Order: sequence, then structure tokens, then C-alpha cells
Amino acid sequence: MTNADPATYPTTFTPYGDRPSDPEQVAKLAELARGGTTHEDLRDWLQLVDSIGELRVLEGVDWQENIGRITEMLTHSDHAPAVLFDAIPGAQKGFRILVNAQAERSRLAVSLGLPSDIGTWELMDEWERRRDETEPVAPMMVDGGPILENVLEGDDIDLLKFPTPLWHPQDGGRYIGTGDAVLTRDPEEGWLNMGTYRVMVHDSTNAAIFMSPGKHGRLHRQKAFERGEPLPAVVLVGLDPLLFLASALEMPYGQSELEWVGGMRGRPVECIAGRHTGLPIPARAEIALEGFLMHDEERMEGPFGEWTGYYASASREEPVFRLSAIYHRNDPIITGVPPEKPPYEAHKFRQYLKSANLRREMRLAGVPDVTAAWCHGVGGCQLFTAVSIKQRYPGHARQAGHIAAQCRTGAYLGRITVVVDDDIDVSDLDEVIWAISTRCDPERSFDIIRRAWSGPLDPAIEPGKKGFNSRVVIDATKPYEWIDQFPEAIGPTPEEKAVTRQRWSWILR
Ligand SMILES: Cc1cc2nc3c(=O)[nH]c(=O)nc-3n(C[C@H](O)[C@H](O)[C@H](O)COP(=O)(O)O)c2cc1C
Repeated sequence: MTNADPATYPTTFTPYGDRPSDPEQVAKLAELARGGTTHEDLRDWLQLVDSIGELRVLEGVDWQENIGRITEMLTHSDHAPAVLFDAIPGAQKGFRILVNAQAERSRLAVSLGLPSDIGTWELMDEWERRRDETEPVAPMMVDGGPILENVLEGDDIDLLKFPTPLWHPQDGGRYIGTGDAVLTRDPEEGWLNMGTYRVMVHDSTNAAIFMSPGKHGRLHRQKAFERGEPLPAVVLVGLDPLLFLASALEMPYGQSELEWVGGMRGRPVECIAGRHTGLPIPARAEIALEGFLMHDEERMEGPFGEWTGYYASASREEPVFRLSAIYHRNDPIITGVPPEKPPYEAHKFRQYLKSANLRREMRLAGVPDVTAAWCHGVGGCQLFTAVSIKQRYPGHARQAGHIAAQCRTGAYLGRITVVVDDDIDVSDLDEVIWAISTRCDPERSFDIIRRAWSGPLDPAIEPGKKGFNSRVVIDATKPYEWIDQFPEAIGPTPEEKAVTRQRWSWILR
């Protein structure tokens, strides 16, 4: 069901309006797209992505059905562009939605200020280096910024003025928060968290925020509610892709993602103080919802199409998020990252960053010689993970597997963790499955971890019993005791392959 006449559907793209014509600016953009300097906000980012030819604008597409459908199909297409929907029927022209933003490595690289043609392993090495070396830089509080171009309070608050899509037909409501960031402060310890949690519109002034048990925002909520108080929160539903990345990735407990982004960029994130909560609101964000998660009022949330590829958490009572203010720029942009059957956009960028985080966490936990890690997109970067090691001692493989399954990156809603030798490319499913099939003897190679951290989204656990799950750690390495007698594998080494491919390029692509 749509409110647009199919005869009015666009048949081609519209150019991105903010494209500069000044040659100096064009040259600057080209320079920036080669990497080195990070953008200031989403609008700069869009210009950069447009300059590398990866942005399209679509006008006249309805929010009821086709924005969601097109987004689902874009995210499952290789090399699809970022798409900005504008002139959405029923909404003010200029109120836009960006989708598929970081589904390609080139655009993820733009977000990180890296060359857009950077390779997989180079990007991961750089991310790991930044995770090691970044020192936090506190946000700088400022008095003004584009986010104050429109401030709605009291009777003017109207969540329904935004063209929030119905992303999937069976969703229980319109989700304005998908590629978002939710800011909350720990009521006891005072630190500021930023996490990506879905936000459903109830009506013009109320919404729901779904935080899985154990997530940092949920811990803040628990602490506030135990004191009998509401939890102040700010939800950025349109924001800079770099802030979004920090929000959507697992950072250590107690680390402020806003400070981490400041440190990584080498300059503080400029913020205004929320008028009702005092929470910092990035001054160049697109749309910020400020309010309180109510300790004494609940409404139904869900169902929602989820990252596992199902509507598994169904609907439940969740605390109401009551808005005190909406702040937005002129012509605001919602950043949409609706979950789809994996792998979808979030997995396409998380596979690099979560995998690099996993390898780093294993190193910091003292596991030697971890050569690579890969959180496979097909498992939502959670359910199917492979790590490779150069085996050094008896028990090394089991140590690697159990730590990969239970460290910060691996602990939540995992299922299968595989350890392979370093001759296996962990990012290649064929190679990983081949190692499992040929190097495992199930009675010696499989360990089960019971009562691990899961939650309402786990499709394999019966309704009413969700919370815990079990894990299998598969040791698919050659048995250490007779590693030297293990049959030799067929095939050239990667170095031999490279030489042969070059020499015989006319037949081997
Ligand atoms: C697009 C996207 C949507 C997400 N939605 C949710 C959600 O609705 N609820 C949730 O608990 N986690 C969600 N996550 C996962 C969290 O954002 C992620 O685990 C993050 O690290 C949470 O922040 P925290 O570690 O500060 O709790 C989502 C992640 C992405 C990339």
C-alpha cells in the first residue's frame, strides 16, 4: 500500500544538489577522497561520496513500501551506490533519507579518511592501529551549530513530520532510528555511552528504544530505573557516518564513543548542551530527539525485521521514550540502516571493523600468533566467526576459540566459532568449511559452551525462554600432537599463485 501514484515514480536519478562547480573545490574534494582528512559532517561526507561517483538521489518514492523494498534490494546487490531519497510523497521536499551509505569498502574508507581504493587487510590494520593508539578527546561544548536551525518544543514536537519509512511490511511501526546513535549517561559512574539501538515511533511525542539486555545503554537504563528515575537520552537519527560507526561497534564498558571519535579525528566533536537533559548533542548532526526513557510507562514495541533475518523478538512491552525536544537542520537527513537478512549494509562494514576488533581483543587477552579473524557477514558478524593461528603449543587452538567466543566482540549472540591454521583464509567460507570438513574429528574437535549471553533476538531459542544460548567452538586446526604427519594440502602457496597469475594473466584472471 502506497500513497504515491506509480505513474509518478522516478525513472532516473536526480543529481546531488550540493555538488560544487568551483574547480578549486572540486580539486579539494578529489584530494579528500584520496584519504588523509576526515569530513566534518554528513553533508561533507555526501559530497565526498558523490565525487567518487557512488551517490544517487531518487525523488518521489513512497515511504509506505518502496523505500524499504528498494533498500532491501540495494543492500543485497554488489557495488550498489548510496541512495538519498528526496521529495517523498506526503513529506516536505528536502526532508531526506540516506540508505546503503557504508555498504561498500570505498565508502567506509571515506568515513575513516582513508583512500577509497584501500584493500581489505590494509583497512583492518589501520583500524586496529587506531584502536590501539587513540587517546580520548572530550567533546567541546559550543553555543550554536546547524542542529539549532530548528528546535521544536512543547506543542510543536512532531515526530510524524519526518518521512520515516515502514521498512518491512510486517513491522509493528515506523522505525525512525535504525542508523542512529543513542546517548545516555551512566547514572552511577557518570560516563557517556553512545550505542545504536532501534527506535520506533509511537505517535508525535512518544517513541520506543529497544536495547538488548547487557548493552551499555540498557545497563544505564537498569541503573536509573532501580533508583525509580527516568533515564535522560538523546537519539541522533541523522548523523555523521563516523559517529555512527563508533556507536554501532562494541567498545569497552566505560569508554565514551564520543570522546573516542574526538581522539581518532584529532579534534573534539563540537556539541551543544541539550536544553532538557544537558546531554551533549553534536552540533552538526542532522536530527536529534531529546527526552526521557520513562521508568513508569511501557508500550508495545515490535515486531521488527532483525539482523538475524527474522522477526524473532516479536513484540513486547518496552519503556516509553517521551520527547522533550526535537532539533533538526534545515532539509534534514535520516540515516537509515534497516536490518535485513544477513549480510546487509551493517554487516558489509562491520565485517572489517569487528574482525579487526576481534583480532585485537585476542592479542590483548594474551593469545599469541593470531594471524587473522573474520566475523562473517552471513552470520550477521556474530553467529559465525573464524580465527586463524600459527599453532605454537598444545591447547593453543582451544584457548583461541574460547576467547574469540567470549571476548567483548564475540560474546553477544554468537553461535559458531571456528579456529583454523594459518594456511586457511578465514574470510573465505569455502576454505573455512573445507578446514572443518577435513581437519575435524567431531568427538575431539567440538566444545560446547552453555548458558552464554543471548537475548530476545535469538531465532533458535523458544519464545518465552530467550536469554541464554549455547555455542560451539570448532577446533579445525591440524591436531597438534601429529601436526607434522598431517597430510600435506594440495595447491600453490599465495606467493606462487600471485606469480602464476601475473605470468598467465591472459588465461587466469
Ligand atoms: C544498524 C544497527 C542496528 C542495531 N540495532 C540494535 C538494537 O536495536 N538494539 C541493540 O541492543 N543493539 C543494536 N545494535 C547493536 C549495537 O549497536 C552494538 O552492539 C553497539 O556496540 C551497542 O553499543 P554499546 O556497546 O554501547 O551497548 C545495532 C547495530 C547496528 C549496526
